[in-house]
Amino acid sequence: MADKSMEGLNTFTSEETSTVDAGKKMRVAIIGTGWIAGSHIKAYLAQPDVEIVAGCDLIPGKAKAFFEKYGVENVKTDYANDEEMLADKSLQLDAVSICTYNCQHAPCAIHAMEAGVNVLLEKPFTVTLEEAIEVMKVEKKTGKVLSIGFQPRLDDNMKMIKKIVESGELGKIYYIQTGGGRRRGIPTPHGSTFIEKDTAGIGALGDIGCYSLDMVLNAIGYPKPLTVSGYKSAYFGTDPKYSGYAVGKGEKYSKLFGVDDFAAAFIRLEGDIILDFRISWAMNMDTPGDTIILGTKGGLRIPSTECWNGTVGGPMTIYHEVCGQQTQTVVPIIENKSKVGLFEKKIRTSLDACKNGTAAPVPTSQIVYNQAIIDGIARSAETGREVEINVPEV
Ligand SMILES: NC(=O)c1ccc[n+]([C@@H]2O[C@H](COP(=O)([O-])OP(=O)(O)OC[C@H]3O[C@@H](n4cnc5c(N)ncnc54)[C@H](O)[C@@H]3O)[C@@H](O)[C@H]2O)c1
Repeated sequence: MADKSMEGLNTFTSEETSTVDAGKKMRVAIIGTGWIAGSHIKAYLAQPDVEIVAGCDLIPGKAKAFFEKYGVENVKTDYANDEEMLADKSLQLDAVSICTYNCQHAPCAIHAMEAGVNVLLEKPFTVTLEEAIEVMKVEKKTGKVLSIGFQPRLDDNMKMIKKIVESGELGKIYYIQTGGGRRRGIPTPHGSTFIEKDTAGIGALGDIGCYSLDMVLNAIGYPKPLTVSGYKSAYFGTDPKYSGYAVGKGEKYSKLFGVDDFAAAFIRLEGDIILDFRISWAMNMDTPGDTIILGTKGGLRIPSTECWNGTVGGPMTIYHEVCGQQTQTVVPIIENKSKVGLFEKKIRTSLDACKNGTAAPVPTSQIVYNQAIIDGIARSAETGREVEINVPEV
């Protein structure tokens, strides 16, 4: 009779059916036990082949309280920071989730891979392009799996955008308008780590801008960015009336606010493609518009989407000609029948890559272009002129 623990378990009910060998436990830790770490731990707890063995946070006692809250026992947390935890070889870690604020993404990813541990790194990849390159050098040197946490890519409607582009239905793509944003939505419900320069490094541009960029760049195969003319502002974040959801915190948060709350850019991509982008945490408008992808044979309209929440904003429309007649085809929303959420899929695909030694599901070779655009927008906004984007080979 087969060993019960070695029986394959299906964890996905959608097309990404994956059979998990629950007999081989992966030893996992979490670096940074704040807000998003909650989604990571819930997803890990749903995996039959994961043992959460450690966690750490810079704030003393925070990691211990975090694991207690989720009822996870026998987790080592008595570390001052990620480096101390990674130096503990008794943990025999296979993988870590890095759930720190943006400015700690690069150092933590470097420390983990140098310690021989695979990494699932939260988005945005890093704050600057230079940091991203440093991380990629270590990734190459160590051969570890490093995946960036873009779970919306795993949504069936998001995948449909890529399928439509790849089908050739739109012809040659030459112009894309994308972005998104909120009328009032500066993310301060859990403190100020998203709005302070020292912790976040970048504001709306990196936080939700990276999702909008990934949605369209992934669809068109991540062409190389060449130049960018960018703009960013912070009129709302620095105003006590708007700087924070928490009642009574506006005055304090407006003083701490050190990033952008709005950004826009005109980006040239390899292949003679123009990307027109805008993103907002707060503005006097409901939406900066739908995403549109124009091609020589057809155009795709994706209704204004909160793509950071993982899906499109409504049925998409293809504008094309049929037998010389201008027509529109509505692409219905694909109903999500999977019981497995996007976060669980993100964790699973990353674990599978670590386990099987296969490529990272969201590879740095793509996301470095996303980061290069963000970096270019910030540089251009600061200098007030168009800048070139040069991504060094790693
Ligand atoms: N994928 C998503 O849907 C999603 C959603 C929200 C946030 N995020 C990303 O997750 C990251 C974290 O966001 P958050 O809201 O959880 O932030 P947070 O401020 O609530 O938590 C971050 C925690 O990391 C700790 N930390 C920082 N550096 C550390 C280090 N070197 N070692 C140990 N601990 C360290 C901090 O003390 C803090 O407790 C951000 O980069 C954010 O962009 C992703």
